[in-house]
Amino acid sequence: MRALVMTGPSQGPDRTEIREIAEPTPGPGEVTVDVAHAGINFLDVMARRGDPGYVAAWPYVPGKEIAGTVREVGPGVTDLFPGQRVAAFTSGGGLAEVALARAALTVPVPAGVPSEVAASAPLMLASALLLLTDAGRFRAGETVLVHSASGGVGSAVARLVPALGGGRLIGTVGRPGKVAAALSAGYDAAVARHDAGVRPETRGVAAPGARIVPSGDVGGGASSVDAAHGIDRDVTRAGGDLAGAIRAAAGGGVDLAGAIRAAAGGGVDLAGAIQAAAGGGVDLVLDPLGTATLDLDLDVAAPGARIVLFGNAGGGAMAPLPSQARLRSGNIGVVGFSISSLSATAPHRVAAALRRVLDLIAEGRLDVPVTEVGSLDEVPAVHQLLAEGRGEGKYAARVGRPFS
Ligand SMILES: NC(=O)c1ccc[n+]([C@@H]2O[C@H](COP(=O)([O-])OP(=O)(O)OC[C@H]3O[C@@H](n4cnc5c(N)ncnc54)[C@H](OP(=O)(O)O)[C@@H]3O)[C@@H](O)[C@H]2O)c1
Repeated sequence: MRALVMTGPSQGPDRTEIREIAEPTPGPGEVTVDVAHAGINFLDVMARRGDPGYVAAWPYVPGKEIAGTVREVGPGVTDLFPGQRVAAFTSGGGLAEVALARAALTVPVPAGVPSEVAASAPLMLASALLLLTDAGRFRAGETVLVHSASGGVGSAVARLVPALGGGRLIGTVGRPGKVAAALSAGYDAAVARHDAGVRPETRGVAAPGARIVPSGDVGGGASSVDAAHGIDRDVTRAGGDLAGAIRAAAGGGVDLAGAIRAAAGGGVDLAGAIQAAAGGGVDLVLDPLGTATLDLDLDVAAPGARIVLFGNAGGGAMAPLPSQARLRSGNIGVVGFSISSLSATAPHRVAAALRRVLDLIAEGRLDVPVTEVGSLDEVPAVHQLLAEGRGEGKYAARVGRPFS
């Protein structure tokens, strides 16, 4: 079978190739799946970089979420059958024509959920749901701050919050060009962190001389993969008044536009801009940036806030956690989250989250745009796009015969 194989650690696509490898066979409690679509994730990039804990041995086949049809069931598997449409969280190996999965992490896909969307559920959507509910203890009406808001998980969080009762959503992104994508994913306000967070910018409200995306658009779907990598470019935009939208988002007399102008003038007050957008403190922070923005998270946290640390996108060394005194004085909780660890220690919680997001999609309560990547051959370019921080939203690779 064809599979995407990483032969050793690399910062680029030079050690990734498509190869023929042996098909897996299911052991006890396992199934194999003919993969229709496989989700592409930043975790694949962290594996490719050789970040500690992601690859047990090279060569390595990445891919932790798939949708397809059951090919074969292993001994002891009674609730799944060959030909059944399923989505599965895998421990790797998903970017291949046939993937191995634990039955405990494989769930049926309800009718009407297409395979490219189902393939985005086991890791991305289940993580977003678990981040909000289990780790973050989100309650309807709360204010949520999400870093890397325009990416896969960031966009998924914005689309899930309304289905969980709604809340105020504030996102940060790594570059000004991603602000529009965060807003179109559903964020009420989005701010660009400039190189770890010193000059915040939001389109339409920056002071003269600030760097800004040259468009008055807001609310347009922007889903693009770099044409330079030979992949289709698909960008749609709708017109709108971003400054007005952000002022409206700030609500209740808070002058976010003024706050951001002041922040840009002062050059360093990202926390001030976020608090202005929040209309006060933030109840829940979802942070995949290691500890790079942890001080900021604490600065904007409302009393009783939860800060969930769930990644280390930059890959660097992490700073010590905040002092107990700082946490105690604000009644602030700092929580770690890893869906991979949870899948090992409590697979039923991952499977339950996966079932719930698939049901929300089937019921029309959750809409997840996915950029389809035409084949395994195009995946290395998408990994590179993600590695360079240029991805927007979710990507899933077409591997076999899709279902809809
Ligand atoms: N713990 C878990 O269980 C779990 C599960 C799923 C995902 N994650 C983590 O959640 C994050 C989002 O995952 P995703 O798959 O949806 O990816 P993504 O957001 O589509 O892409 C990763 C984003 O990380 C940001 N980033 C920050 N520093 C970076 C650097 N040095 N190089 C490249 N990108 C950098 C970029 O966004 P900005 O520039 O806008 O910040 C980039 O777009 C990742 O960090 C991932 O590891 C964790």
